[in-house]
Amino acid sequence: MEIVELDQQAADNAIALWQKCGLTRPWNDPYADFSRAVEGPSSAVLGTYDEGGALIGTAMVGVDGHRGWVYYVASAPDHRGEGIGHALMTAAEEWIIDRGMPKVHVMIRRTNTAVVGFYRALGYEEQDTMVLGRRFDGSTGGSIGA
Ligand SMILES: CC(C)(COP(=O)(O)OP(=O)(O)OC[C@H]1O[C@@H](n2cnc3c(N)ncnc32)[C@H](O)[C@@H]1OP(=O)(O)O)[C@@H](O)C(=O)NCCC(=O)NCCS
Repeated sequence: MEIVELDQQAADNAIALWQKCGLTRPWNDPYADFSRAVEGPSSAVLGTYDEGGALIGTAMVGVDGHRGWVYYVASAPDHRGEGIGHALMTAAEEWIIDRGMPKVHVMIRRTNTAVVGFYRALGYEEQDTMVLGRRFDGSTGGSIGA
């Protein structure tokens, strides 16, 4: 499975996939999220396509100087269980390791219990940390989600 770094031209298809996978939230602008990640020096959006050229998987990846983070992990609903999520996470981890980081975190919304097994299958363990956040625009939506 070929995993590539997406560019700005893939924005519409990536966001359509995120919407289909239930990953967008009203308090996050997915177009701004995508653009920041593909244009920033320490982040990227990885993706994979099917034989017909349809985008069927994404993972947003970034490093902050201490660890890597992965967001917007999505595989198309009609391609689940085919190893796409695993391949994307492996590629995301390699991207992070290549930038010298020794560890990776992923944030899962508390309501997204279905996905916990996916990360556990990949060796991820619950961390003894509480994630606190604050939005700079004064809104409170982000206090319940990333
Ligand atoms: C999570 C998601 C990306 C998994 O994608 P996928 O392509 O189906 O995953 P894979 O086929 O690579 O599965 C990898 C492993 O995880 C397991 N797995 C996948 N989803 C699982 C789940 N919900 N619960 C338990 N195990 C799961 C698979 O059985 C497989 O294990 P194996 O290697 O032992 O066979 C996909 O279900 C998805 O897009 N969900 C909606 C979006 C989402 O919630 N993303 C995460 C945001 S934090």
